[in-house]
Amino acid sequence: MNDMQLKKLLRLKRTPFYLFDLSELERRIQFLRNALPGHIKLCYAVKANTFILEGISKFVDRLEICSPGELQICRQLGLPAEKFVISGVYKEPELMGKLISEENGFGIYTAESRTQFEILHSAAVQAKKKIPLLLRLTSGNQFGLDKTEIENIIANYKNSDFLDIRGIQYFSGTQKSSIKRLKRELDMLDSFLQEIYETHGYTAKELEFGPGLPVSYFQRDSFDEKAFLQDFSDILSQMSFSGDINIELGRSIAASCGKYFTQVVDVKCNNSENFAIVDGGMHQITYYGQSMAMKHPYIRVLRQQEEPPAGLQDVPCNSPVPEDEGVEAWNICGALCTINDILVKKLPLKELNIGDVLVFENTGAYCMTEGISLFLSRDLPEIVLLDRSAVPITVREHMETYALNCPYSKGEN
Ligand SMILES: Cc1ncc(COP(=O)(O)O)c(C=O)c1O
Repeated sequence: MNDMQLKKLLRLKRTPFYLFDLSELERRIQFLRNALPGHIKLCYAVKANTFILEGISKFVDRLEICSPGELQICRQLGLPAEKFVISGVYKEPELMGKLISEENGFGIYTAESRTQFEILHSAAVQAKKKIPLLLRLTSGNQFGLDKTEIENIIANYKNSDFLDIRGIQYFSGTQKSSIKRLKRELDMLDSFLQEIYETHGYTAKELEFGPGLPVSYFQRDSFDEKAFLQDFSDILSQMSFSGDINIELGRSIAASCGKYFTQVVDVKCNNSENFAIVDGGMHQITYYGQSMAMKHPYIRVLRQQEEPPAGLQDVPCNSPVPEDEGVEAWNICGALCTINDILVKKLPLKELNIGDVLVFENTGAYCMTEGISLFLSRDLPEIVLLDRSAVPITVREHMETYALNCPYSKGEN
């Protein structure tokens, strides 16, 4: 979207708000599909952004769901249950029993522990159903099962009447920019699947792998994504494993479709330092990898005046401000009563005025849910979807949060 289109939108919407552009989302998924080998399937990690689910579900093969809340959202939206991966480190036995006994089964379940395995197994026995299952291999933390436990399960249940153990799920972290690390992980998985075959005569039918593909958020990031994806694709193509490979992605799919709009509501110069106070803040936007507001995300400035005064220009997206005359360092601070509420320190800009709007780019994944939304009982931002014909549709109004911080009064609960 160009600045004219953004300014048009600003006439309709009150800041702060998030905008998620469905055309960009589609372009992004197509880009990833083109960049990865043809046989690779895509699974979207719902936690990255639940507002774009309707726009995304027909373009991906699976939806990874990690909590009852995420499940509720997917069901409420009527998304196809056969695409659901019922995942997550805490699975409530009652809910699992209910899901498994339902008429229309779900796509697939994951087991992250022996306890979860038993819960799923006994629910399947009770419902007299055979359910598809992935065993999550741990990467050395509280998630998943270790190799010995996985082999144990396979040895005892590979021919189960109630479980179709389809293979392994593996996810070891996000924003992984080391191709060597991805190669190490895929080599390890390849060898492990081969070992299981040799020891137990079990052939996995699928591998669900979360590579944690990185997103470039900051102006000084130097990341050649095309080359990275080419290397990643080569590694995938060279694997001995010949079953289905699902790539679980959140950030890399969703980040680029999002923009966060926040307006300058006050400006001041304290002891020669410029401060701009905005109507949003750190409770509404979190960038992974930001460090004490030192890094400069890609930000556009939409000036309040239609025509910027001579010599003043908007800051173009994806390019640092030239260090020429009139450029000053600005601290962009939010609307919370804490000195920590600084979104960006020393952002080089040509002047900033009350009413100017800052547009933070690449905020489509996690940014809006990882903040401390309830602090100071400020409103949650509006969420606007830009549909394929570029029509802005509000899918969540500004939402008051004070009720969540308010004790029930006597007699009301
Ligand atoms: C199991 C699992 N898969 C996939 C993802 C998505 O990761 P990313 O957003 O880095 O692609 C996550 C994120 O936490 C996850 O826990």
